[in-house]
Amino acid sequence: MSVDITITVVDRKGTEHEINVPTDMNLNLMEVCKGFELPVEGVCGGMAMCASCQVYVLTESHFGSRNDDEEAMLDEAYYVEDNSRLGCQIPITPELDGLRVALAPETP
Ligand code: FES
Repeated sequence: MSVDITITVVDRKGTEHEINVPTDMNLNLMEVCKGFELPVEGVCGGMAMCASCQVYVLTESHFGSRNDDEEAMLDEAYYVEDNSRLGCQIPITPELDGLRVALAPETP
């Protein structure tokens, strides 16, 4: 059964975007942000190789931690904080309902 969840994305100007996302379409957070025309580039297409989809997780996360590829990419990325994640490595699942993230600054 299809379940929609609500997540909030704070863009780089501080504007909050509350978006409803289906959980049965095999999407990740980077794709969702792009789909809603938020300024997320996703240069590498979700391969954990560019960090242009970096977000800061503002709520307590219930969806696991960084995977190895993600950790390696974030090791080399700019503006990385303890709560940084790569949006493309976060699959949209029902557990994400209520998630709040902020977009990291653009990579220089
Ligand atoms: S889209 Fe490139 S690391 Fe996520």
